[in-house]
Amino acid sequence: MTFEKKKSGEKIRVLFIFGTRPEAVKMAPLYLALREDARFEPLLCVTAQHRQMLDTVLEIFGISPDYDLDIMKAAQTLSYITTAVLTGVETVLKTCRPDIVLVHGDTTTTFASALSAFYQQVPVGHVEAGLRSFDMSSPFPEELNRRLVAPMASVHFSPTPANRENLLAERIAAPIFVTGNTAIDALSYTVRNDYAFKTSAVRGLFPTDRCILLLTAHRRENLGTPMRQIFAAVRQVAEEFPDVQVVYPVHLNPAVREPAHEMLDGLQNVLLCDPLDVDDMHNLMERAYLVLTDSGGLQEEAPALGRPVLVLRTETERPEAVRAGTVKMAGVETERIYALTKELLTDAPAYAGMARAVNPYGDGHACARIRQALLYLFGCGEKPVDFQPEP
Ligand code: UD1
Ligand code: UDP
Repeated sequence: MTFEKKKSGEKIRVLFIFGTRPEAVKMAPLYLALREDARFEPLLCVTAQHRQMLDTVLEIFGISPDYDLDIMKAAQTLSYITTAVLTGVETVLKTCRPDIVLVHGDTTTTFASALSAFYQQVPVGHVEAGLRSFDMSSPFPEELNRRLVAPMASVHFSPTPANRENLLAERIAAPIFVTGNTAIDALSYTVRNDYAFKTSAVRGLFPTDRCILLLTAHRRENLGTPMRQIFAAVRQVAEEFPDVQVVYPVHLNPAVREPAHEMLDGLQNVLLCDPLDVDDMHNLMERAYLVLTDSGGLQEEAPALGRPVLVLRTETERPEAVRAGTVKMAGVETERIYALTKELLTDAPAYAGMARAVNPYGDGHACARIRQALLYLFGCGEKPVDFQPEP
């Protein structure tokens, strides 16, 4: 699909479609960047694949959706999300006829929205394109979702040069801009030296001499045994190191909450809380000693803040920070997670080797590059210069 050149004074009508917390965190700064530019008319459709976890992000960034599909239900299946989004987005597209739809990343909202736009012959721009784990079973179903968006998209915004190479290896012919990840842009909205935590349980932890170990775990492929193994390792660390303070904002999925509370409740140095607002989360990460996570977003944010990360997965589609040395793959076996955590708590040189701020994912200007790329595609500006991570 091609982009129709805009006449002078004609606005570019951009429909953002997203539905989950991570998409919202990473699309909000881009939406705001277009909103403050008179050459754009940004509109927002939320699928609400997530409800509360989405709404809190929108509130913090001061964004109201123009369309809300409100699809979330308890124990929703992938087929349900796919079909509800596919049909819901079709109705929105028929009403609003945008010049381009922007989707983000790898969720089922992303895939189904792109497919719906493709069927309606509306060009799709894929933000955070080209990440690959090369393993269809992990992350599941995100690796497939992200791959399926690639042939449907008319333009790709890849965070890193390696992401672009992945797309080129798949013979993707549409334009690819290397922009950096908008997650790094989001940090400049949230992280403050004098930040006061809103969540009282977190505020109550400071000032502290304890090492804060920030934990998140929610991935579908980790539900069940892997998640229990992860929690067993965290429990062992908490029991052995009383000067460690674990903080675990627990995802709202009941399949996560039940084992988390069953295995980690009752320890004096483990705080289980509801999901944190994104500003609380980013500022807590900035003050953490170590991050244990299976999240994609945290793998990008923590290295930018100089915080070592142990990834609770066997693979990653974000190898750049692993290569830079700030992130290590810990897998999902209790023994290895425990051993790697213990090493970082007891071996100062090992810790210092990882606790370095690296920014392979962006320089905080991803949104400006994407905005410039859109202007270029619609005949209203120069081509942006690609993001080049420091060697
Ligand atoms: C989804 C994405 C995943 C992303 C994650 C971010 C897919 C297939 N998965 O997974 O890629 O990493 O979001 O967190 O797109 N729930 C609530 N309130 C909320 C959000 C969720 O109650 O605000 C509960 C609901 O019971 C829901 C369940 O969590 O049924 C699972 O949500 P779902 O979006 O299906 O899966 P996630 O694991 O969150
Ligand atoms: N996040 C948050 N509150 C939390 C946990 C995570 O605001 O309690 C933020 C996190 O900082 C990142 C995003 O949500 O910006 C990541 O979302 P998640 O881990 O759910 O999804 P993933 O990145 O794995 O797809």
